[in-house]
Amino acid sequence: MEPIVAHDRAELDKARSSGSVALVPTMGALHEGHRSLMRLARTLGDQVVVSIFVNPLQFGPGEDYARYPRTLSTDLDVCAAEGVDVVFAPSADDMYRPDRQVGVSAGEMGTIVEGAVRPGHFDGMLTVVLKLFNLVRPDVAVFGQKDAQQLALIRRMVVDLDLPIEIVGAPTVRESDGLALSSRNRYLTPDDRHAALALSRALRAGAAESAPAAVRAAALDVLASSALEVDYLVLVDPATFAEVPDSYRGEAVLAVAARVGSTRLIDNVLVTF
Ligand code: PAJ
Repeated sequence: MEPIVAHDRAELDKARSSGSVALVPTMGALHEGHRSLMRLARTLGDQVVVSIFVNPLQFGPGEDYARYPRTLSTDLDVCAAEGVDVVFAPSADDMYRPDRQVGVSAGEMGTIVEGAVRPGHFDGMLTVVLKLFNLVRPDVAVFGQKDAQQLALIRRMVVDLDLPIEIVGAPTVRESDGLALSSRNRYLTPDDRHAALALSRALRAGAAESAPAAVRAAALDVLASSALEVDYLVLVDPATFAEVPDSYRGEAVLAVAARVGSTRLIDNVLVTF
């Protein structure tokens, strides 16, 4: 069945079921990673709502907001194939009043690692996610581990602002050669795509080691001999994104961001010590 397409709060309210609602927020250009979230959402709620909105607030000046892929009609086909009940696809004008003032601050955790490279990104991301939560009023929302710091900050927002929503994380979906699926992969030339494989290769090399220092060294070694321009490689606590000490015990995130050609890619794996 075709999903109902809603553009604003009134249309969403009309489409809402009386049962539980599972939300999958996206920026569209849907791929198998997004589809895995939809399938997980299907098991978590009576009604699955997918939002498709390229959020101008989370793009910095000089980032790819204007050229971000917008593929709504094929995205609707994907949602239909996954049995999504409602697609929420607002316009930027519907989401943001020109005189808007108030937004969410991601705090210090929004200024480190990915936040240090993209100032304001996480404030804009949390602001739209909170708006989506208020518009859709889901019981559960599903996010990918692929954006590990985003997931950590959303969990933090739910705790710090007492939001009555369960956050579920989902594993990263990869191509068979290891490249994490991303809407931005379509920008890659064949040479770029080959070079981009060093990201997942570095993470695998790191994850094969058993102490934090060796994990970092093994991953950096792979990156050093690649064609990537590395923004960061960090080994951090999954909840705070603070670097873990060598004595650390428990789960950590080995996260990397790098540029290849004109495209910026991020990836991460979980490592347990
Ligand atoms: P977007 O990049 O479209 O991603 C939407 C969701 O899909 C996020 O939860 C992301 O972590 C997940 N995802 C992306 N690639 C994935 C992969 N290879 N495997 C599994 N999940 C994957 O993230 C955003 O949009 C935005 O910041 C948003 C949360 C919608 C707020 O604007």
